[in-house]
Amino acid sequence: MAAENSITINGNAFTFEPGETILEVARRNSIDIPTLCHLKDALPTGACRICAVEVKGARSLLPSCATPAAASMDVQTESTSVVLARKMITQLLLSSGNHNCAVRGSDDRDWTQFQLQVAQDDASDELCPVWGDCRLQSLAYRYQVSGERFMATRTRYPMETVNPFIVRDFSRCIQCGRCVQACNEIQVNNAIHFGYRGASTKIIAAGDRPLKDSDCVFCGECVQACPVGALVEKDVRYKVRPWETTKVRTTCSYCGVGCQLYLHVRENRVVQVTGVEEAAPNFGSLCVKGRFGYDFVNSPDRLTVPLIKENGQHREATWDEALDLVARKLGQIKEQHGSDSIGVLTSARVTNEENYIANKFTRAVLKTNNIDHCARL
Ligand code: SF4
Ligand code: SF4
Ligand code: SF4
Ligand code: FES
Repeated sequence: MAAENSITINGNAFTFEPGETILEVARRNSIDIPTLCHLKDALPTGACRICAVEVKGARSLLPSCATPAAASMDVQTESTSVVLARKMITQLLLSSGNHNCAVRGSDDRDWTQFQLQVAQDDASDELCPVWGDCRLQSLAYRYQVSGERFMATRTRYPMETVNPFIVRDFSRCIQCGRCVQACNEIQVNNAIHFGYRGASTKIIAAGDRPLKDSDCVFCGECVQACPVGALVEKDVRYKVRPWETTKVRTTCSYCGVGCQLYLHVRENRVVQVTGVEEAAPNFGSLCVKGRFGYDFVNSPDRLTVPLIKENGQHREATWDEALDLVARKLGQIKEQHGSDSIGVLTSARVTNEENYIANKFTRAVLKTNNIDHCARL
């Protein structure tokens, strides 16, 4: 092992590639360092400090997500000072805003008042909509802290609910900046930014207007990136809990890119869609159709049997009956008016294989080149 490419983490030596951060080396070697603001494939900001580690000889703890590994570094990822720092950061974050999950003290009056206030703000008597699926809550359990050490601070911004897809709840925003990076660096939509200053800091769109009045295209990348309950899908909020669903991996059916996604299924119904972060080609990103356009799956308007129109009315038919009718009609048209009197339009909403078959059928059976596809436009 070349010494100039060697770093020691928790007493074990590991090699690193030039430019790799301490966090990347640790994760590659299955050493868990918690993160909040770190977003894969975005520039590290070092904003939250929860990933702090102790490096021998350094004057203070260093953010592992933003510190390059260097030769002969001696790193501790769970030393006493690291754990104390993480406890403090978690306590500060929990005490700022409506963090009403089971991580505050449970036996003082302040707790009751706090819960009542949050229930009013949320218009729900349930605990936080992302309870059980929140990085801050996980940290609270991991480091055994609650939000009662510091006086709770009230949120100054109201919830934004005026679009069909995303609820922005600033009372639970920890200002990690992941949404901003997801929007600007991953999706490159540039719809949201940090606004105002100091204690007034807020994530804003279009000079602090609702998302629907901004450049937002509702891809939902920011929702998937948000580590807490500040950005939640409207149809999911307080309606779907992760332990009620099973995840089924599949390929998006909307276009030929082939984005990998998880269908979250409850009682045989799709109730949420998320991107598969570890798989090509999309690595977790989706567009508005792939992420939010899943209602059609369970729509009662979907056709389940072929319909034949007779005397202005549709009637149900068997596949054999419907296919015989189409074949007969196409044959008649071809005979009477020639092959080029027929055109075939296919769709991006079917598979490549189905489009290939349509192409073959058009050119080899119908004997015309009149075939086109909506994705070409
Ligand atoms: S956002 Fe996380 S930490 Fe805050 S209340 Fe919800 S579950 Fe708890
Ligand atoms: S939904 Fe997409 S475009 Fe809109 S703010 Fe979030 S990441 Fe940006
Ligand atoms: S909305 Fe979520 S992702 Fe964005 S800064 Fe707040 S906590 Fe972080
Ligand atoms: S995760 Fe490293 S500073 Fe936030």
